[in-house]
Amino acid sequence: MNQNYSILTLAEQPGLISEIRALARIAWPEFLRHAKAEYWPELYDRFARYQFVFVEGNQVIAAGHTVPFKWDQTKADLPGGIQGVMERAVQMPENELPDSLCALAAIVLPEYRGRGLSTEILNSMKNIAVQHELQTFVAPVRPTFKSEHPKVAMSEYITWRSEKGESFDPWIRTHERMGAKILGVASNSLTVAGSIKEWREWTGLEISASGDFVVPGALTTVQMDYENDLGVYEEPNVWMKHLLPEP
Ligand SMILES: CC(C)(COP(=O)(O)OP(=O)(O)OC[C@H]1O[C@@H](n2cnc3c(N)ncnc32)[C@H](O)[C@@H]1OP(=O)(O)O)[C@@H](O)C(=O)NCCC(=O)NCCS
Repeated sequence: MNQNYSILTLAEQPGLISEIRALARIAWPEFLRHAKAEYWPELYDRFARYQFVFVEGNQVIAAGHTVPFKWDQTKADLPGGIQGVMERAVQMPENELPDSLCALAAIVLPEYRGRGLSTEILNSMKNIAVQHELQTFVAPVRPTFKSEHPKVAMSEYITWRSEKGESFDPWIRTHERMGAKILGVASNSLTVAGSIKEWREWTGLEISASGDFVVPGALTTVQMDYENDLGVYEEPNVWMKHLLPEP
């Protein structure tokens, strides 16, 4: 697609924060907006240079969120996912330098979806890694079709492929077409915990007993403990590693 948008970081234009928040409200199912996310505000402040939007005219049409962190390049040293990587980034001492970039989210305004913008978001993320002299770019990928198969283990889902060898999932496919490789399952990327009343409000579901519930938009089932008034969702993602251009 011809690029008829400009790319701005939140550091360049801090006023974009309300548009970024509006885009997030559209992108995620309500319950996911209640995930444990105490470090997220740091993205808009300390890590503002790593957040960007695509602006067409005066409309924000897409956003990308990333964070720099330290990673020794082994699978064993990968955090559980988004929450873990944020924690590591925020807790890194000021006198230490990050060596890797982690994608946190890519969002396209619904009417601009299906035009290839997501590849351009991932390319912009790679550019951020290069600009900041980071050697690696990884992503805890949230597969877009997984919510239609909540009872399938993520470890199995990522093996679903066409005869041509392409991933069943369009978002994993997009990363792979850009050369990214799956490293493994990010077993606990985000956690959402709430009372039964909150889960009813977030999902519109009638919950009147304990059990594993299928919740629209959730990648796996949600464990409802009716007696203890607690519902817990632990979102699995998929760690993928991209190649960066030589400096
Ligand atoms: C995931 C998302 C970023 C993709 O953005 P996009 O610009 O629409 O994606 P693209 O046009 O580049 O298409 C990427 C792939 O997804 C497929 N795709 C795009 N929209 C689709 C839809 N509505 N239904 C099914 N597949 C779709 C495309 O066909 C393409 O796969 P293919 O070329 O192998 O067929 C966008 O749908 C979005 O913002 N979703 C909400 C937030 C989210 O889930 N982000 C990802 C996790 S962080």
